[in-house]
Amino acid sequence: MVGEVHISNESSSLTNPTNKTTTAPLHHLPILHPHSLYNLISPILPFQLHFYPPLIITLHFILTHQRFLIMAATGESQPAKHQEVGHKSLLQSDALYQYILETSVYPREPESMKELREVTAKHPWNLMTTSADEGQFLNLLLKLINAKNTMEIGVYTGYSLLSTALALPEDGKILALDINRENYEIGLPIIEKAGVAHKIDFREGPALPLLDQMVEDVKFHGSFDFIFVDADKDNYLNYHKRLIDLVKIGGVIGYDNTLWNGSLVAPADAPLRKYVRYYRDFVLELNKALAADPRVEICQLPVGDGITICRRIS
Ligand SMILES: C[S@@+](CC[C@H](N)C(=O)[O-])C[C@H]1O[C@@H](n2cnc3c(N)ncnc32)[C@H](O)[C@@H]1O
Repeated sequence: MVGEVHISNESSSLTNPTNKTTTAPLHHLPILHPHSLYNLISPILPFQLHFYPPLIITLHFILTHQRFLIMAATGESQPAKHQEVGHKSLLQSDALYQYILETSVYPREPESMKELREVTAKHPWNLMTTSADEGQFLNLLLKLINAKNTMEIGVYTGYSLLSTALALPEDGKILALDINRENYEIGLPIIEKAGVAHKIDFREGPALPLLDQMVEDVKFHGSFDFIFVDADKDNYLNYHKRLIDLVKIGGVIGYDNTLWNGSLVAPADAPLRKYVRYYRDFVLELNKALAADPRVEICQLPVGDGITICRRIS
């Protein structure tokens, strides 16, 4: 699902020529170790001061804090931590995101996915749809892991479902769960036209009771190669408790929206939409739980609204 609220961060100032808070020039100021500093200045240091360590320590403090001291003097803001080690986020700016879409995503997007994306764009809840770059990522991931038996929780009009269906082999299967069939039927004619509807088993209704039934039946244990979760965020941990039994060892669960509109790092008093604020704590709790879960290897990707890839290892 595409995020709605964008919490601005300092990284965007690096690509915004009009924003004066850019920290890049200060970032390149050198930092010297005390020993190197001592070696550097010792030839010009009066003899007595060689035995006066506080001088070296003071000079070292000034050098190591120079960028912050200059920033304090000039009123510039402190650089974000990630800029200290090189900024690698893909979410630097809207222009960069647009560049990714136009260069690498839209030209490779299958015609059926483009059609579904355009139909969905006219729907009043279009904010819920999976973004085109995430659809491309899912499609490739499924091919990389040779997925055959999959599940999707949260279908809406079916953009991620179609990207999955197109990636699976002819005899591949997707158990698709959603409380709303009406929206699925918006996309269904396009999915049928793409020739992949036979791979989909759509079930209308809340996912949790169905998962409970499946967990009770051992034949479903370890039976899924891939599961994509993009539904009610307040149930993600409940889903995880069940899905961990249903995905095979070596299989993958993808949890969507795990960066939740960037709101996870917003200050407590930030003006967030009600639903963003409501689900934020659930997403924070999920991220902590996944990071601490020894049964999975994880990778948090800043694709779309953030997707956490979990590979079951035990
Ligand atoms: C963000 S949308 C899914 C977007 C979809 N993956 C796509 O590519 O367009 C979330 C969906 O979850 C569904 N949903 C919400 N609660 C659910 C539940 N308890 N069980 C199953 N589906 C649910 C909603 O009806 C909605 O269609």
